[in-house]
Amino acid sequence: MRDDILIVGAGLAGLFLALKLAPRRVTVLSQAPLGLASASSWAQGGLAAALAPEDDPELHAQDTIAAGAGLVDPAVAQLIARDGSARVLDLVALGVPFDRTPDGKLAQSLEAAHSKPRVVRVSGDLAGKAIMDALIAAARAAPHITIIENARARVLLQDGNGRVAGVVCDDGARFEASETVLATGGSGGLYAVTTNPPEAMGQGLAMAARAGALIADPEFVQFHPTAIDIGRDPAPLATEALRGEGAHLINGKGEAFVADLAARDVVARAIHLERAAGRGAFLDAREAVGSHFPRNFPTVFAACMSAGLDPRTTPIPVAPAAHYHMGGMVTDVWGRTTLAGLWAVGECASTGAHGANRLASNSLLEAVVFAQRIADRLRDTVATPVAPVDNTALPPVLPDAPRAQLRQLMQAHAGVVRDAAGLSLALDRVGALCEAHGEAHPLVAARLILTAALARKESRGAHFRSDFPDAAEPHRSFLTRNDAAAAA
Ligand code: SIN
Repeated sequence: MRDDILIVGAGLAGLFLALKLAPRRVTVLSQAPLGLASASSWAQGGLAAALAPEDDPELHAQDTIAAGAGLVDPAVAQLIARDGSARVLDLVALGVPFDRTPDGKLAQSLEAAHSKPRVVRVSGDLAGKAIMDALIAAARAAPHITIIENARARVLLQDGNGRVAGVVCDDGARFEASETVLATGGSGGLYAVTTNPPEAMGQGLAMAARAGALIADPEFVQFHPTAIDIGRDPAPLATEALRGEGAHLINGKGEAFVADLAARDVVARAIHLERAAGRGAFLDAREAVGSHFPRNFPTVFAACMSAGLDPRTTPIPVAPAAHYHMGGMVTDVWGRTTLAGLWAVGECASTGAHGANRLASNSLLEAVVFAQRIADRLRDTVATPVAPVDNTALPPVLPDAPRAQLRQLMQAHAGVVRDAAGLSLALDRVGALCEAHGEAHPLVAARLILTAALARKESRGAHFRSDFPDAAEPHRSFLTRNDAAAAA
């Protein structure tokens, strides 16, 4: 007997949703042992929420809308800003040890494009790990949650009407469910330079697209400006909070070249151009953080020191890296996708919260706000009996060599700066990889990104076209897997 609600993915969005569904029984599939292969665990920044008396959810919503470059749904921005404080308090109740001021209040830091300091953090740069540790402990102890580790969902089951009815995993294990929630994370691993775990290759996006779900805005991939450039894959992050604390960006000549707390897309492009011009880009935190590094930013400090670089005395070499996918499965304000029986939450969803450029530390916030909303919808639903048809041929797995080729292609042609020639070439090559290796998930996901990026003949937020450097009329992109296949 299976539980009738199935959550695919055990990062912040998946586990928070599972906890919030109590007492309804739920099964959670985790592709790796809990806490591993989850981008949530690596999050350094924290959660944005207007908690301080001098702040206001309306201001937070306005910052979110401004960062999103014309494509944020204002109602969704308001919704996540409004519910932020309650969800942060939920996490406090689960035992997350957010940093406190000397008088015991939650400490809040400044990040780029926020008009107020409003990011709650843990030990400087350990928010993701601390939040995940608390959620994992709570989920393991919760009697209503069944966790299945090392279960890699590969294809959605559907009934004769297309209603989603569970998943099949790569070992053939079937999990039937009347309600399936994808919380499968992002797609940064499609790029050669990324801050994401290598498993994040858009598998949820591709699975949903295969089943016919509508995808929105896949061309909007956020590049974090300051991945630490020490030749590591994935690239360690130097959190934006460092610039919030006063660290400066400089080039190899020691010159400033961009406003340190400008929107993420602006800073990423400036760093990209500085590097392309051969001047290099560095984050100089010697004065702003200096000797406080080991205590205030232990993750960044350890990453630098492991490469023989002491950030107390040396500027940190930085490069933009694929970090967050604003695009994803289209959902409504309750997390429902366009397919009956299928819901999406977290990075794999496109709720309208992030537009063309996500505001820093809004991703964990969106994940918990929408997880709560989905739980409120699903907790009391009556289970629908499911009768999946036999549509479960598993897609092929992309071997290592073409996977590496794909990552180089995306890096070269669908990165911080794009143009028609590069995007068309990448689409052709991805088409050839599909012919040679079949429609593996990473290829399907890449094709969605490339198709939408080629079709968007303007520059907006994280999508910069050197052949169309200006913005046109704001519009969202909506496409299906067939649209992408036809464009290839
Ligand atoms: C960071 O710490 O700079 C990343 C935070 C985020 O991506 O929201």
